[in-house]
Amino acid sequence: MRAVEFKEYGGPEVLGSVEAEAPEPGPGQVTVDVAYAGVNFADLKAREEGYRVPALPYVPGLEVSGLVRAVGAGVTGLTPGQQVAALTAGGGYAEVALAEAATVFALPPGLDLRTAATLPTVLPTAYALVHRVGRLQKGESILVHGAAGGVGTVVGQLARAAGAGAVQGVVSSAAKAEYARGFGYDEVFVDSESDFAEQARRATDGRGVDLLLDPVGGSTLRRGLDALAVYGRLVSYGNAGGELPWQLGQSELATHGRSVAAFSILTLARTDPGALRELAERAFRTVTEGGVRLPVTAEFPLARAAEAHALMGGRTSTGKLLLRVAA
Ligand SMILES: NC(=O)c1ccc[n+]([C@@H]2O[C@H](COP(=O)([O-])OP(=O)(O)OC[C@H]3O[C@@H](n4cnc5c(N)ncnc54)[C@H](OP(=O)(O)O)[C@@H]3O)[C@@H](O)[C@H]2O)c1
Repeated sequence: MRAVEFKEYGGPEVLGSVEAEAPEPGPGQVTVDVAYAGVNFADLKAREEGYRVPALPYVPGLEVSGLVRAVGAGVTGLTPGQQVAALTAGGGYAEVALAEAATVFALPPGLDLRTAATLPTVLPTAYALVHRVGRLQKGESILVHGAAGGVGTVVGQLARAAGAGAVQGVVSSAAKAEYARGFGYDEVFVDSESDFAEQARRATDGRGVDLLLDPVGGSTLRRGLDALAVYGRLVSYGNAGGELPWQLGQSELATHGRSVAAFSILTLARTDPGALRELAERAFRTVTEGGVRLPVTAEFPLARAAEAHALMGGRTSTGKLLLRVAA
């Protein structure tokens, strides 16, 4: 099979096409003939040494759509040829991908393979951030970084649908602010123009926001604490800024009774696949029944995955990027 892998850490140029052995499913596993693979920011982080890559060479890719190729012992409810979307633990940039059956989802009627490839990572993550970990209540205010990106565009729509009182986003450019406004945001701040925490406080008459979703970490996470209202919650779900892992103590959190939580879809998939499955099924329904959309703004053939990485890494991408594998 064809796959895209990297043999050393580095920029997008380390991604190269190779011929590789197709994986076979073990007990409880499924292989998928991949139609499309979604591109996630985590795929870019994987090229940095010290991220969660177990060994080199490494085939990135956390989500695919396609047809079930084979099922391992003990797998029920999935049959070869069936259309599915799958969350994988890597290896999605390939003609054949391997996934645990618990994270393989039969496509609901009306969902095409192209749209399905955009869902497995972003949708459950955004749903968990807003509803499960963030516990957004009707009338509350929410602020999210990367509002024009994959997770950000879905969070805006879910927060709006949940009856949020104010939905605020942070982005790195005016063009991204314009894009994000179409996805449920009342206001989108460009952080380089003025400090986002100050802008958020101003927009809430000095009160601050009830819920802040932070995928950046480091000094941005610390600045975010100042944007929180009394009893405000901050959920950390990434380290896009690449700074050292954040640490907070009782004294910082006791101020205004703040709380900080965290979420990782890959960790949940490993530690509680049943919870991940319930979360994903609910989240997918927001697309099939609730009208949530995540437009594909750029699509590349698998062999040109490096171009997709360069686009996202250059901070000009919006919405969702896809790789076309065998569509
Ligand atoms: N914890 C989880 O389970 C989980 C699951 C999925 C995604 N995530 C995280 O959620 C975020 C969005 O993921 P995505 O795949 O949907 O990507 P994306 O938002 O489509 O694209 C990457 C985003 O990261 C921001 N960014 C890029 N470089 C940055 C930097 N150096 N500092 C701060 N922000 C930077 C960009 O926003 P601006 O240019 O507007 O700042 C852009 O929106 C990522 O941080 C990802 O790791 C976490």
